[in-house]
Amino acid sequence: MAEKPAIDVLQSDSQIFEPDATFREAANVRDPKIYERAAKDSEAYWAERAKLLTWSKPFSRVLDWNPPHAKWFADGQLNASVNCVDRFAVGPHRNRAAIIWEGEPGDARTLTYFDLYREVNAFAGALRNLGIKRGDRVAIYLPMIPELAISMLACARIGAIHSVVFAGFSAESLADRIADAGAKLLITADGGHRRGQIIPLKRIADEALDRVDCVENLVLVKRGDFPLDFKEGRDHWYHRLMQHAPRWTEPEPMNAEDILFTLYTSGSTGSPKGIVHSTGGYLVGAQTTTEGVFDLKADDVYWCTADIGWITGHSYIVYGPLACGATCVMYEGAPDWPDRGRFWQIIEKYGVTKFYTAPTAIRTFMRWGDRYPKQYDLSSLRLLGTVGEPINPAAWIWYRDVIGQGRCPVVDTWWQTETGSMMISPLPGLIGCKPGSATKPLPGITAAVVDTDGKDVKSGGGLLVIKKPWPSMLRGIWGNEERFIETYWTRFGKDTYFTGDGARLDDDGYIWILGRVDDVINVAGHRIGTAEVESALVSHELVAEAACIGIVDQVKGQAIAAFVTLIEGANADPDIAETLREHVAAKIGAIARPKTVLFTAQLPKTRSGKIMRRLLRDIAEGRTLGDTTTLADPDVIEKLKTRYEETD
Ligand code: WT7
Repeated sequence: MAEKPAIDVLQSDSQIFEPDATFREAANVRDPKIYERAAKDSEAYWAERAKLLTWSKPFSRVLDWNPPHAKWFADGQLNASVNCVDRFAVGPHRNRAAIIWEGEPGDARTLTYFDLYREVNAFAGALRNLGIKRGDRVAIYLPMIPELAISMLACARIGAIHSVVFAGFSAESLADRIADAGAKLLITADGGHRRGQIIPLKRIADEALDRVDCVENLVLVKRGDFPLDFKEGRDHWYHRLMQHAPRWTEPEPMNAEDILFTLYTSGSTGSPKGIVHSTGGYLVGAQTTTEGVFDLKADDVYWCTADIGWITGHSYIVYGPLACGATCVMYEGAPDWPDRGRFWQIIEKYGVTKFYTAPTAIRTFMRWGDRYPKQYDLSSLRLLGTVGEPINPAAWIWYRDVIGQGRCPVVDTWWQTETGSMMISPLPGLIGCKPGSATKPLPGITAAVVDTDGKDVKSGGGLLVIKKPWPSMLRGIWGNEERFIETYWTRFGKDTYFTGDGARLDDDGYIWILGRVDDVINVAGHRIGTAEVESALVSHELVAEAACIGIVDQVKGQAIAAFVTLIEGANADPDIAETLREHVAAKIGAIARPKTVLFTAQLPKTRSGKIMRRLLRDIAEGRTLGDTTTLADPDVIEKLKTRYEETD
């Protein structure tokens, strides 16, 4: 059960914003029967959607379901780069902007579909020349520059599996992901711009490569004029490779079930897991939801502010929008650089029509105040979206009123790295929105709220599950079948996918996501595993033991609180707390830096030695303590409570 809903208690089930008539009549999806049709025969629905892609060999089978293993369109063949690029590089789309890119310092580039086609073909050829073949893994550690999308599509073209690592991760995190995937090649840049600083990506990449031995070559994109060590033989400048690259590279005909990419995400235990996504089904999910939920039109300028290093960027900057032939804005830097109006300035400059961001960003903008968005012309906006964590109704309303000027539908989209594409979200021409609710499952998606026995909840709280396979679902965890079964397909059996989220169903059938029910902390829409932070803490020489929990944070949704026991003789002082916070940031990345570190002589444990995080949460949030009867040493908790109250 959800132990602590990370959402305002002030939810109103009754406040509803219906789509206005003009929007409804022009919407891409406007026939309400789509829900019923998809529910009656979901395979027919998905087959119809899949036929909108370009297949080099058409599929005849739709679904093979051998729980928990699904195969979609299994005898069909296609190539993701052909679907995202080639088919728009001819005809009326040829000169349309595919990517409108803006660097943080203000430099800008626009790539038409034809430009993108040229780049992807050339880089795919360059990768082949470096010995990359179908099925090989390529790690990508790049800032938000067009070469990131080009690299992914070039891998897809030759059937290599890409594994993008967010450029905010540390050398150690990068090394772990490279090693787990067994990547043969790493693509990085000399550096990237972030809030006026240069992130020394090449230096971090070098450090990572010192720790692994699978990588043979490194491709280096020149973003600036940043100092670096160039290792002859291993390192290759991207622009040099491109000078000798072919103009055309034959796309590899991929089976629908061949792996398109893996992407690492945190779980409740252990190290991050490489979520495996397929080629055909994934693309069907990403394309369908982009077109339907964002209601993409030919003249749209669409902007998703996520980083491509996360699944949101994979599905809603690269694969979904490009498979729709859309025009996407891509921005390299921070929202407050050079000032807090940067996002609104970008919207005005390019006439952005569809805007997709995260609740944590919206709350930050709210704090900064209305005067920043009010300085710019936002009248081009037609639809707003949000993703990553529950959005509190106050932030939803602010987003709608101040950014959307009361004119734009706000789509709250629930999904996960594992689901590949949106699962619960309004189709904006058909579903009225309730602030704080992701509304209803999309057509062809059978999401349900169940009780702990797996029985459907008709109204009220429970656990969120998906009852039938869907095309963009994960196909596994890279190299760890057991963990795949254990994490998703054991709680409610092999044919019901367990999301790890708590949810509430209201009387109108709307779903309200309550947040994670496992030991995963959602900081600013990013998943952090408590086990990872704990192991980073324990790796410090002064730390004997550590336990982490998520605490409520007004802007980030949740923040990390660490309870730490130091080794005998070590002195708990503020300096050590700061050292430990930095230590975690250096080990994992800045996103995992604990907000608070609290020292304690002992941690509350069960008699079998399991740390009782639930009690730590109760203490941190000032609740009366839950059941303490299984506690090995009841004294511990009293001491901890006093100590917490003193420091708080
Ligand atoms: C977890 C997935 C998928 C995009 C980014 C995060 C939470 C995601 C929502 C939403 C409430 C949400 C869930 C989910 N989440 N979207 N609209 N409302 N919660 O991907 O890192 O795989 O995390 O994010 O808890 O399980 P992710």
